[in-house]
Amino acid sequence: MTIRGDSSEYELLKEWCETLPFFKQPKTVTTCEVGVREGLGSQIIMMTLKPRIGNAEYVHYAIDPYGDLKYQHFDNNQQWKKNGEWTFKAPTYSNDMRDQMVKDFGGNPNFKFYNMTDLQYMDIFNLSKTIYDLVFLDGPHTTKDILRETLWFAERSRKGSRIIIDDFNLCNFEVIRAAVSYWDFKVLQSGKNKVCLQREE
Ligand SMILES: C[S@@+](CC[C@H](N)C(=O)[O-])C[C@H]1O[C@@H](n2cnc3c(N)ncnc32)[C@H](O)[C@@H]1O
Repeated sequence: MTIRGDSSEYELLKEWCETLPFFKQPKTVTTCEVGVREGLGSQIIMMTLKPRIGNAEYVHYAIDPYGDLKYQHFDNNQQWKKNGEWTFKAPTYSNDMRDQMVKDFGGNPNFKFYNMTDLQYMDIFNLSKTIYDLVFLDGPHTTKDILRETLWFAERSRKGSRIIIDDFNLCNFEVIRAAVSYWDFKVLQSGKNKVCLQREE
């Protein structure tokens, strides 16, 4: 078992799961993590929420392409780019890591893994009617990527839904905050690295 994390403030993630409000008794609860790595984020979300929701159906979607994908992590990490290519200095996440993660969550009936990028997932499920209660965004951290993910999930949310963003201080968070205010998401709380937005209406 190697369910580990690479970030900080997992205690905040846990707290935001413990206090997730259910304004109506839900028939189905759906959570999601974009960017899974070794799985600690998904583990905390599932372990904390599962005991809270009784007999409701619970699904957690985990989205990650692995495959040592080279991608732009942040808006301004130009030192990771050489001749227009992302270099070895930027961390990548291997298929071996994926295989271990799949083993670690193998016995968990709530866990649904999609081995693909956020964009592929959003394309495939664009017409799906799934409503997300809590989403943890920890894949690419550029403003463009987070904005696109946030808008997609905000459109598929309900009163009380939460969107948690990792490393929010490394993107232009103001753009994201303003955009999701359209759906009445407001900042509930923020730490040094993680922020939690909640839909108020
Ligand atoms: C910082 S790690 C995630 C850490 C994890 N959330 C945790 O708490 O331990 C970033 C992950 O994002 C994944 N990733 C990169 N590009 C992605 C994309 N376009 N869509 C989804 N995941 C992506 C990487 O493969 C990597 O596993």
